[in-house]
Amino acid sequence: MLSKELEAAINKQINAEFWSAYLYLSMSTHFAHEGLPGFANWFKVQFQEEQDHAMKFMNYLISKGNKVELKPIEKVDTSWESLLQAFEVTLNHERVVTSLINNLVSIARKENDYATENMLQWFVSEQVEEEETAQGMIDSLKLIGGNGFGIYTMDKELAQRTYTPISSSSES
Ligand code: FEO
Repeated sequence: MLSKELEAAINKQINAEFWSAYLYLSMSTHFAHEGLPGFANWFKVQFQEEQDHAMKFMNYLISKGNKVELKPIEKVDTSWESLLQAFEVTLNHERVVTSLINNLVSIARKENDYATENMLQWFVSEQVEEEETAQGMIDSLKLIGGNGFGIYTMDKELAQRTYTPISSSSES
């Protein structure tokens, strides 16, 4: 069983993961409305992955005999002035999530909770990927600038992104 401090911190993280899911779902609907189905698809996959992150934490608490507490999800923005701005928001948000994960690792280390620290390593690696991906999108959008054909091509490419549940690809 995890300590009460770690249980509370992971419950907070579950809420942060659901908030992330809600943010990306909102971005997905916004870009669908803007006539960019590929970008909408990309954010929808992101939304699904964030739900998986929350589930992974929930399953971990349950497996340890701890209590999951689902808290209210704060409101998210519903529109963004540009694709570039949305991805800058995404990158900044992922940096915040990285710091939250790092904080969980610190608590687990302080408590010599090696099992939890081990579980968290998956998230440490995932965050490197999340930040890298968001940065890559920003770089591409800056290269394209306002070029309509470039945006159209990128939208077509992002329509190909498919969702792979983490349970089949990353859990040990
Ligand atoms: Fe669950 Fe995008 O961090």
